[in-house]
Amino acid sequence: MIKILFAVWELDPFIKVGGLGDVARSLPAALADLGVDIRVVLPYYKAIRLGRIKKNFAGEFKLDYGGTLEKVEIIEVANPITMIPVYLLRNDKYLGVAHHPDTFAFFDKAIIKIISENVLSWLPEIIHCNDLHTGLIPLLVRENKIGVKTILTIHNLSYQGKASVDVLDKLKMDQTKCHLENWEIENKKLNFLMEGIIHADIVTTVSPTYAKEIMTEEFGCGLEEVLRGKEGRVFGILNGIDNNWRSNSHTRYVKYPYMSLKYKTSENIQAKIYNWEEGKMKNKLYLQKKLGLKKGSSIPMLSFIGRIDPNQKGIDILHKMVRKANLSEYELVILGTGNQSWEERFQWLGQFYPDNVSCNFKFDEKLANQIYAASDFILIPSKFEPCGLIQMIAMFYGTLPIAHKTGGLIDSIKNNVNGFIFDNYSSEALENAVQKALFIWYQDKPRYKTMVESAIESDFSWRVSAKQYLSLYQELINNTL
Ligand code: GLC
Repeated sequence: MIKILFAVWELDPFIKVGGLGDVARSLPAALADLGVDIRVVLPYYKAIRLGRIKKNFAGEFKLDYGGTLEKVEIIEVANPITMIPVYLLRNDKYLGVAHHPDTFAFFDKAIIKIISENVLSWLPEIIHCNDLHTGLIPLLVRENKIGVKTILTIHNLSYQGKASVDVLDKLKMDQTKCHLENWEIENKKLNFLMEGIIHADIVTTVSPTYAKEIMTEEFGCGLEEVLRGKEGRVFGILNGIDNNWRSNSHTRYVKYPYMSLKYKTSENIQAKIYNWEEGKMKNKLYLQKKLGLKKGSSIPMLSFIGRIDPNQKGIDILHKMVRKANLSEYELVILGTGNQSWEERFQWLGQFYPDNVSCNFKFDEKLANQIYAASDFILIPSKFEPCGLIQMIAMFYGTLPIAHKTGGLIDSIKNNVNGFIFDNYSSEALENAVQKALFIWYQDKPRYKTMVESAIESDFSWRVSAKQYLSLYQELINNTL
């Protein structure tokens, strides 16, 4: 049985910041289904509330960091959704609150210590690292000559975790071991993600298209040359969604559950299951009332769910389009948090068009599911999108994505089949795609129906992706790459 330690800084349902938290929940579960012995390791933040979850003491050790010896406790729990074992590393000073760079440098070194001293009496063959937070692990593995392989998965290349090289002193690492670029030495900057890319045995990212895009200057965020240097060792594997878990959220949160419930759900469904047309209509009327929008089933509902992030999520072109839009044609619902000045701009639109625009600047899983269920279309105008889970969840709900032609959006949406893709990153191109979608919704109901049904039929289950990870693990262990 292959043994994998999956190192990550967020994990649903303990703590979730973005899509990575979902991946950390469901990918290990899909791999376990294929027979992998996979365990997750995560800092034990003070914000994590375990409630009635059973805790086991799994060991403790001392870690030299910043010149002092710090005690680290390992608490083992099972993820309550998947039952996958999770090791929570407790040290209130460094791991209590996520603070770059110390939390992550400390976390990475702690993982090395756990393996080199076999604290768990369990040794992985591979450490599967995720994003900048675990970026120093591959380097530390090499420096400490630990017999374990490393994979680094990049979920978003634009977050690299640059930090002062002082962190190397705290780790007692020699600066010459790191690949600091000359200009970075002058600025005394260490780049966590870059170190990870250079030293990992394999690098993966979360869609085949993004794997190609990051080799270019346009998407490479300054690391394109480093990535090109890894030729043949960079792979793109599309993320999935966990259909059973989705079904459970659907029944739990959605007022009128409907036909997309083709997957098994562990919840005992008492509720009536509607067909999608009736279900969507009822959920729309319910949500319109809840959010104070104009009521009626004869107006399409468009939504945006995600971080209010102007650098990635296409907030700027979305705002520009809505400002000019004929809002009697549709309603717009926004859910997410992020950049405050952009939130204010949208809020202003919401106040100006209270009957048509509803802004909800918060993180709310229940409302998110209700929005997916009620909406006809979901807008994903991202400038770049490594994978994106929103479009897959939307399709699960029979909600057609209208998305920019980039990254994982290309790999998961078939233009004019189960969604709409627009080429140029501009408010005009977005507007044209919206108009096309609205035309079909208003004028060509049979075609709209076929598209929704094809969206519901699209299969984004994790199994296919998990198999690809498994074969990479095997090749890495057998040295056949
Ligand atoms: C990041 C990316 C997103 C991806 C997620 C999980 O949040 O921005 O595209 O789906 O990670 O891999």
